[in-house]
Amino acid sequence: MPLDVAAPLLGRPVTISGLGTYLPETVVTNDDLSRVLDTSDDWIRQRTGIRQRRIAPPGMSSSDLGIPAAIAALADAGLRPEQVDLVITATISPDQIMPATASRIAYEAGCVNAGAFDVLTGCTGFVYGLAAAAGAVAAGLYDNVLVVGAEVISRIIDQSDRSTAILFGDGAGAALVSPLESSSRKSESEGGPRGILGFDVGNDGAGGCCLSVPAGGSRMPASHETVDKHLHFMRMNGAEVYRFATRVVAVSAGRVLERCRMKVGDIDLFVPHQANIRIIDSAAAKLGLSPEKVYTNLQRYGNTSCASIPLCLSEARAEGRLKSGDLALLMGFGAGLTWGACLIEWSDG
Ligand code: ACO
Repeated sequence: MPLDVAAPLLGRPVTISGLGTYLPETVVTNDDLSRVLDTSDDWIRQRTGIRQRRIAPPGMSSSDLGIPAAIAALADAGLRPEQVDLVITATISPDQIMPATASRIAYEAGCVNAGAFDVLTGCTGFVYGLAAAAGAVAAGLYDNVLVVGAEVISRIIDQSDRSTAILFGDGAGAALVSPLESSSRKSESEGGPRGILGFDVGNDGAGGCCLSVPAGGSRMPASHETVDKHLHFMRMNGAEVYRFATRVVAVSAGRVLERCRMKVGDIDLFVPHQANIRIIDSAAAKLGLSPEKVYTNLQRYGNTSCASIPLCLSEARAEGRLKSGDLALLMGFGAGLTWGACLIEWSDG
């Protein structure tokens, strides 16, 4: 019998009480890439929807992007850093294997009372981190958990490999998870939004080889040979990942909707991981969602992996496309292969 991993959130109501983002300044357009790679703006736009991406300067690591995003999320929530109980960093481009990138982000953001750990579940990391945070806050284990998606993916991409170099961009986004009643928002009993409703998370380890950084861990330690063979860079079977993503999004979305007793028609905003516009369009069509209910920013940032969903949430809210009471479906997928869906009734102060 398959493990049932889709469940409505039990315990006290929880919500995202603050959002923050940080993007490096340097913009790299498709035309810039086509000057150094055998590719073109036309090909990249038509096959992916991406027009440009941000790239971090040399010396800047994922935590350097995550720290300002975390500080901005705390300011947005009106919370002091010492009130944070836990910092979870979701990333596929950690500063180092050890210590956790979250440790530096927590330290530099002033979260002196917080524990810290990293989530390494590919581009699904933000949703996994959100599920861990929401469950812990709902159960009363913690009051305030910061989930930071932080990526300098350009460091783990072979810039001479046109099949991956065109897809990814650097950036960070953070979300603070807190009890609904502690925010200034109207509580559920007063007829206000209910906050985070539930999750569906999953994993298919059989697809691990489709998307990986082969060397640098205990399975294939670093050596001259691994460096010579470029095995510290991301390897991707794009077609396989594409098939997986277009299949899993509708299935996982259906599961979380069913568990939370909601319908596709209730969704106000679909916030998918920003991998490829064709994956997003296909998933939206399978779900029966009209284009105006789908949020995308991959045109400007490319695939920012674990940062893509919090970046979208922050921009959607700023643009007035995510308002108090709106039902948002967040959907991540990536290396593992993993996937994760979250339903949230958005609550703004
Ligand atoms: N520029 C020009 N031509 C290219 C490029 C490029 N950048 N890349 C590949 N091509 C060529 C190929 O060589 C091929 O040429 P051929 O027909 O002469 O053999 C042709 O274009 C078609 O290549 P495909 O790989 O079939 O192109 P496809 O339409 O499948 O698009 C892509 C490739 C964009 C990678 C797509 O498969 C995809 O988006 N997959 C999902 C990737 C993804 O989302 N990864 C991240 C997951 S999240 C995480 O955890 C990191």
